[in-house]
Amino acid sequence: MPPLVLDNFPSTPGKVKLERSNYFGRMAHRWQTSSLTSPLFWLCGLASLAVVLLLVLNSIDGYNVVHIGSTWGGAQWEKQVRLSAHPKRSENKVVLVTGAAGFVGMHVSLALKKRGDGVVGLDNFNNYYDPSLKRARRKVVESHGIFIVEGDINDAALLSKLFHMISFTHVMHLAAQAGVRYAMKNPSSYVHSNIAGLVTLLETCKSAEPQPAIVWASSSSVYGLNTKVPFSELDRTDRPASLYAATKKAGEEITHTYNHIYGLSITGLRFFTVYGPWGRPDMAYFSFTRDILAGKPITVYQGPKQIDLARDFTYIDDIVKGCLGSLDTAKKSTGSGGKKKGHAQYRIFNLGNTSPVTVPNLVSILEKLLKVKAKVNIVAMPGNGDVPFTHANISLAHKEFGYQPTTDLHAGLKKFVRWYLNFYGASADGVSRL
Ligand SMILES: NC(=O)c1ccc[n+]([C@@H]2O[C@H](COP(=O)([O-])OP(=O)(O)OC[C@H]3O[C@@H](n4cnc5c(N)ncnc54)[C@H](O)[C@@H]3O)[C@@H](O)[C@H]2O)c1
Repeated sequence: MPPLVLDNFPSTPGKVKLERSNYFGRMAHRWQTSSLTSPLFWLCGLASLAVVLLLVLNSIDGYNVVHIGSTWGGAQWEKQVRLSAHPKRSENKVVLVTGAAGFVGMHVSLALKKRGDGVVGLDNFNNYYDPSLKRARRKVVESHGIFIVEGDINDAALLSKLFHMISFTHVMHLAAQAGVRYAMKNPSSYVHSNIAGLVTLLETCKSAEPQPAIVWASSSSVYGLNTKVPFSELDRTDRPASLYAATKKAGEEITHTYNHIYGLSITGLRFFTVYGPWGRPDMAYFSFTRDILAGKPITVYQGPKQIDLARDFTYIDDIVKGCLGSLDTAKKSTGSGGKKKGHAQYRIFNLGNTSPVTVPNLVSILEKLLKVKAKVNIVAMPGNGDVPFTHANISLAHKEFGYQPTTDLHAGLKKFVRWYLNFYGASADGVSRL
């Protein structure tokens, strides 16, 4: 597993600092005087002209070219997108799922396709965690007829192309820079995906005809330093403990603005620590499993006054039901021609499990399932963005679309461990078969 410290994005995308020096000045002068006579000069000039022409053609709506420096575009690509978007019946939805190669995105895409919805995925396959896991997820969804476009939600041309080709009824927006602690290492990646990317997506949706209804992933982390439990949607969310939480909170404000001005129907979902098969390697239940099997010590944090940390772990199938319930109860957007034509729905729901489990308890469940004793180092929680506990009140989602989680942590981890051993080829006693 590669370390999670790869800086994927420049802090100011698109800006390159040029260094000037006398050396470069002299070189430029020499080049100017000698190159006009060189055949290479004319060759380069012609190539540049061709590139400019291609870029101009690219900007013309409907023109079919492969985009320079990206992997989308072309007749074959369009065919795959259209096929994937095709719903089984006319009453089925047509959904753009961003982050479709991610953990939640994969499961939601499969569930939508299974019931007959048309699904197009979008993911940039970044290397925040091992991209080969994302590519393995892609293999699975593709085997069910779902095409994942490889691209970034900041690519306005790509989004506009997709919306010109397909009348998406809904967008399930799950693409984001996840992870709380990584925000201290690579803050700009959070701004890039969770703020700039979100705005680019909303700009496209606002101008789309018809406007889609949008359901997107916020996070329980917006409850930040709150101490009143369980967390309710009515509680304050203005004390984030991490930049990740702050960008999710900003997302809630930004989506509200687009709902208010442009009539986009928006539903924000505050997920609580989602786990399960095909999960994220940066999350504790996943890395604990890996390290326990490898005989490596694991670090368990304790809160102030040596209180055990606790999380409202929520099994992926329950989250998927919540996502589908939200999509099914989302009202249509009301805007047209980029303008609001009437009041549009704006909702926020907690999707949790309602029964927090302490981290030492999580470890002992894993020990039993893996049949290996963990080597545990207990240390005080550093101030790196983590919060001591999370606990969801889910009555709003229950009332609106019958959301009712059914999987407890033991049953869910059993399914995760089975998947893990199968996928990574390790046996329950920790001996790798690969
Ligand atoms: N898993 C959880 O416990 C949890 C909890 C709360 C909120 N969430 C939110 O749920 C959503 C899904 O989370 P996940 O656990 O599946 O994470 P994930 O990292 O597995 O999935 C996110 C996917 O989005 C893609 N992506 C990131 N930035 C992108 C960009 N700019 N353009 C295109 N694709 C991009 C990534 O490559 C990744 O495949 C995220 O918005 C996350 O913040 C997750």
